[in-house]
Amino acid sequence: MIITIDGPAGAGKSTVGRELSRRLGFRFFESGSVYRALAFAVREKKIDPDDRAEICGLIPGLDLFHPRPEFYLPEIGDLASLLSALPEVRRDLLACQRKIAEDGNLVAEGRDMGSVVFPGAEHKFFLDASLSTRTRRRQEELAGKGESLKTEEVEAEISARDARDRTRKASPLIVPEGAVVIDTTGLGIAEVVETMLRQIGKS
Ligand code: DC
Repeated sequence: MIITIDGPAGAGKSTVGRELSRRLGFRFFESGSVYRALAFAVREKKIDPDDRAEICGLIPGLDLFHPRPEFYLPEIGDLASLLSALPEVRRDLLACQRKIAEDGNLVAEGRDMGSVVFPGAEHKFFLDASLSTRTRRRQEELAGKGESLKTEEVEAEISARDARDRTRKASPLIVPEGAVVIDTTGLGIAEVVETMLRQIGKS
């Protein structure tokens, strides 16, 4: 069974997805890490972010499924968002991402899991929350990784990323067809997970 969780940055996809996968005994796939791994390599190798052929050429040699703490630096998230708007990059990463579902039960979170990567998923969710809630969560997440940033900085980064992710031509962030929308503003992790389990019929 595949369960997808789509939504914007800071909506709670990773936290909720990880807990949901734990409760169900499913594997968990955090798809942003794939784009972040690529962005990290692009920066490390000083590749021009406009050189699409060179960027795509990196993909076969990357370890896409073992995220490192450095991938979560704001500038890597920003570059990941930029690269993720390139249709060639999305095309080449699509097959890699689908491969991970070949091993069975999976909870997959990201911005196009239910809309593009796994459109046939048995259960689809779309998580959202207010900008201030998403900013606070991102700030806490970064603090947990040893990164202390000002609220205004994080909010500006999230807003810019939202705008880019929602307006890009290649797989923009949308509510996938058939997805259950959950506004997580004011809700705790457990409440969201319970809502999902009820929906799936496993609570
Ligand atoms: O979820 P995240 O912040 O780790 O994702 C980083 C960037 O990767 C995000 O701004 C857009 C891109 N991304 C994407 O385009 N599609 C996904 N399924 C996951 C992430």
